[in-house]
Amino acid sequence: MTTITFKSVKKRYKKTPVVHGVDAQIQSNEFVVILGPSGCGKSTLLRMIAGLEEISDGEILIGDTVVNQLEPRERGCAMVFQNYALYPHMSVAKNIGYALKVAGMPKDERGARVLKVAKSVGLEPYLDRLPGALSGGQRQRVAMARAMVREPKVFLFDEPFSNLDAKLRVAMRSEVRRLHRDLGVTSVFVTHDQTEAMTLADRLIIMNAGRVEQIGRPSEVYHNPASRFVADFIGSPAMNLIEGEFDAHGTFLHGAGGRIVSDAGRGLSGRKAVLGVRPEAVRRAQPGSNGAIAATVDYVEELGASRLVYADASGSRLIAVDTGTAPLPSGTPVHFTFAEQDIHVFGEDGRRIETEASRARQQVDADDMSITA
Ligand SMILES: Nc1ncnc2c1ncn2[C@@H]1O[C@H](COP(=O)(O)OP(=O)(O)OP(=O)(O)O)[C@@H](O)[C@H]1O
Ligand SMILES: [Mg+2]
Repeated sequence: MTTITFKSVKKRYKKTPVVHGVDAQIQSNEFVVILGPSGCGKSTLLRMIAGLEEISDGEILIGDTVVNQLEPRERGCAMVFQNYALYPHMSVAKNIGYALKVAGMPKDERGARVLKVAKSVGLEPYLDRLPGALSGGQRQRVAMARAMVREPKVFLFDEPFSNLDAKLRVAMRSEVRRLHRDLGVTSVFVTHDQTEAMTLADRLIIMNAGRVEQIGRPSEVYHNPASRFVADFIGSPAMNLIEGEFDAHGTFLHGAGGRIVSDAGRGLSGRKAVLGVRPEAVRRAQPGSNGAIAATVDYVEELGASRLVYADASGSRLIAVDTGTAPLPSGTPVHFTFAEQDIHVFGEDGRRIETEASRARQQVDADDMSITA
């Protein structure tokens, strides 16, 4: 049972603060992904767990133990990096078993442990090879095996697959997922790739500029982003975010004369806001149908099974996922609509504003959870 707890964790390099106070708890056996743009402090946070960076302020606990003052080797963490740095002159078996040898484990026991781990990641046929004679994916497997062989309490991954091609990355992802299922070791995985994050994570910690923006299950952060940043960061293509203001009747005014009528504006009269709608929630509508938004096609991106329609709605950009096939040349007038429950509202501070519709949706999500639980 190994939890990881962050209590107001801060990091400064010299005088420069880069992590501004992180509070979070990772459950035993959980697979948590830290996701955020380059430079937001993901690696720094991970390295503070491992003991490779000092914690400037606050506490990190592994299980019940405050680890701030512990040496890296006393923390029971194994780390897998993007640059896996294998020993080039040692065979795969020796690379995997090296840490055990250093720790003084007898040869027979070591051999058995290496073989077991190599089997679990499909490296058994390559045990006598040198790393130079392996593919990128196989080398990354050796790096994982090397981390696993020490039977750590915690696995830490820092963008381990970013050197691999797209197809191999997908394959390694399911491998990591399977290993986690089999071993059940508490794991923290850093990436800036949202697809990787969404597919791997039990829960996500989404960071921005040294702060946690949101912690939640993948479906939670997708359906109920806590901030404009998360709304924009999660989902591809990104959520439509329209800047404007609610008038006295709660109608959303945007761009040059654009009006969006919905219940989302109830109680928000006179407030500036950002209205968010996912492209996959935007539908084509008949002109003149209730609440339809008039727009003009800018261009279309074909995706195969569907296409993205980039349109201009009174000066605001609106992207829709469309399954139609009729040509939509630039300048074509179109109409769009979206369901009340698909509207997200963010205030001037960038934080989410709950509306009646969004509360109702969360209730539905919660009910779903209690059914599946
Ligand atoms: N040794 C250091 N000295 C000074 N500043 C540092 C040091 N290491 C990292 N930083 C700064 O701390 C911030 C966070 O860096 P970190 O490596 O944690 O980002 P990251 O989220 O892992 O980014 P990436 O996705 O690019 O790997 C960055 O602004 C970086 O420039
Ligand atoms: Mg990093």
